[in-house]
Amino acid sequence: MKRKLGLILSAVALTGMVLTGCGGKNNGGNASPSASASSTPAPSASASASAPASQAASGGKVEIFSWWTGAGEEAGLKGLIALFSSKHPEIEVINAAVAGGAGTNAKAVLASRMQGGDPPDAFQVHGGAELNTGWVAADKVIDLNDLYASEGWKDKFPKDLVDMVSKDGKAYSVPVNIHRGNVVFYNKKIFDDNKLSAPKTFDEFFKVADALKAKGVTPLALGDKEPWTATMILENVLLGELGADDYKKLWTGELSFDDAKVKKSLETFKKMISYINQDHAARNWQDAAQLVAKGEAAMNIMGDWAKGYFTTDLKLVANKDFGWVATPNTTGSFMVITDTFAIPKGAKNEANAKEWLKVLGSVEGQDVFNPLKGSIPARIDADKSKYDVYGQQTIEEFKTAKLAPSMAHGSAAPEGFTTQANQAVNIFVTNGDVDQALKALKAAQASSIK
Ligand code: GAL
Repeated sequence: MKRKLGLILSAVALTGMVLTGCGGKNNGGNASPSASASSTPAPSASASASAPASQAASGGKVEIFSWWTGAGEEAGLKGLIALFSSKHPEIEVINAAVAGGAGTNAKAVLASRMQGGDPPDAFQVHGGAELNTGWVAADKVIDLNDLYASEGWKDKFPKDLVDMVSKDGKAYSVPVNIHRGNVVFYNKKIFDDNKLSAPKTFDEFFKVADALKAKGVTPLALGDKEPWTATMILENVLLGELGADDYKKLWTGELSFDDAKVKKSLETFKKMISYINQDHAARNWQDAAQLVAKGEAAMNIMGDWAKGYFTTDLKLVANKDFGWVATPNTTGSFMVITDTFAIPKGAKNEANAKEWLKVLGSVEGQDVFNPLKGSIPARIDADKSKYDVYGQQTIEEFKTAKLAPSMAHGSAAPEGFTTQANQAVNIFVTNGDVDQALKALKAAQASSIK
């Protein structure tokens, strides 16, 4: 396959975080106090059950760590756990999810547990730098080549995805999905009532936004209580202004954040966020998406977990209640966010964790999880008929799109960069100082991208 994600395998930043960014065993690290690891019993098996998957596991537990709690997040996980339990009734599932979008709290709790010698049995991690420059470089996860071989996975996932979860020929995690990050979701009724078409370019976006503003409608919904949501707008503007090829060069260091096109991106980003709701800092991503669902704002730039939230939780119908379009100037590009699961070295229930990976890596597992989650299956042989019009279109578009790794979700650059970028963006949303933001992003690039 020609497309090659510009992954940075520098083994520094998250390694530092893993080893130093947290306290002792079970002290919660630097996670917010609201982050609590909750153990909930496995939901009843409702997903299509078939014969037990394997003879390898015999009782005991498996502790699954993720940040999928609450609306738009947990339905898919629960579906997967139900399927797992139907295949392995003898294994007790401990759902150790920690609330907070994009792993805001979970990543700190995980680092603390790993550091303290109390790892979960399997944990959610984004493919790309987050896995490779973090946990793999720190030698904290087991190599899964045996599982890839026994399950025949190497040619069941796109090569680009296998590359994102591999280092030096060894695979370290299993992708359960592919989320698209460069999507504008919009309220169809607002667009229809105002005779507007979905904007495909920046010019069109600003024309639409001005027309909406003139009618007293909030053009763009943002909920940046957790700053990554604003970082997502910035990364999509970078993708739109630079194009996928140059965007990827930011993560190999071939293109500096000094570049004029990056400055232009920040100016465009600044203009876009002049159209957001006033209470953005008090909302999380679901609260912002809800503004669009309720017709209180017209558009929301978000990953397609928002699609899962709309259809699974709010029972909205794709193409009727909401529409979607690639973020300005990114038609034909695909901001990739892949959720994968890895097994820590020293996991108490490694054999059971492998059974969990087998289920989430199976066609059946992916087709239970992804229609609920809003993502597309990572497997190329999944059953397309299980997906709605959004999912089917996205499955097709992924096949020919230029792939770009997400900065906001840790695939593009080491965790240290993402943290600094989130801080810079958070300040920028408040003060709009382009030069200050550029300086901060440049410093982040210099310290994290080797
Ligand atoms: C991403 C993750 C998605 C979704 C989103 C919001 O990092 O990949 O699956 O959960 O955060 O929490």
